[in-house]
Amino acid sequence: MRIIRTKDYEDMSRKAANIIGALVVTKPDCVLGLATGSSPIGTYRNLVEGYKNGDLDFSQVKSVNLDEYKGLPKENEQSYFYFMNDNFFKHVNIDPANTHLPDGTEPDSEKACSEYDKVIASMGGVDLQLLGLGHDGHIGFNEPNDEFDKETHCVDLTQMTIEANKRFFDSIDDVPKQAYTMGIATIMRAKTVLMVVSGEDKAQILKDAFFGPIKPEVPASILQLHPNFILVADEAALSLVD
Ligand code: F6R
Repeated sequence: MRIIRTKDYEDMSRKAANIIGALVVTKPDCVLGLATGSSPIGTYRNLVEGYKNGDLDFSQVKSVNLDEYKGLPKENEQSYFYFMNDNFFKHVNIDPANTHLPDGTEPDSEKACSEYDKVIASMGGVDLQLLGLGHDGHIGFNEPNDEFDKETHCVDLTQMTIEANKRFFDSIDDVPKQAYTMGIATIMRAKTVLMVVSGEDKAQILKDAFFGPIKPEVPASILQLHPNFILVADEAALSLVD
């Protein structure tokens, strides 16, 4: 595990984007595993800047996202597809045909998940997986006590995650209760895992995940075993580990 300590969110975002940008330059047809949430928004902003100033070319890049709410169509503003398009895809020259998320509109969970695993396999796996860290230690939608060895699967979201997501919906009743997510086995197979963590509210879980025992109650703790795990975190998020 390599820890890159940054001053603040902006600094974290720039450094994470530099790591991704270096891969895009050295392997133009790389497979990026992408995440939604507040943590990577600044990283995407910096990647878009890199594209606009001519440093980065995404024309051959392929992407697979971690997760998608079950039941939300692409046009729904809260779908992760919408998020990715809004924050990243539509601002760069990535080919929409090369961008993939689990199909939230597929009601048959087994079908949706096995098809997504096939998509990932057909690309030859993920070169770099970008992650955020949930307050309960989740990665993707792999919640505490989920198993470490799963591929893409359907999860029931915990009350904590539903609460955390309700800010994006009109009411808590509108927050989807299930999602399709890459499993931890899928995430662990990525050649590089890059996690961005910012803010004091993540300090305790960062400490538990990366400076405590590896256990399914803290899903992110498994990343301690990844051979190429890079944690880019700001001072506030690292404030309990010095
Ligand atoms: C996003 C995802 C989630 C988030 C996590 C942190 O695709 O799968 O695991 O990375 O909930 O979210 P933020 O960054 O909003 O704190």
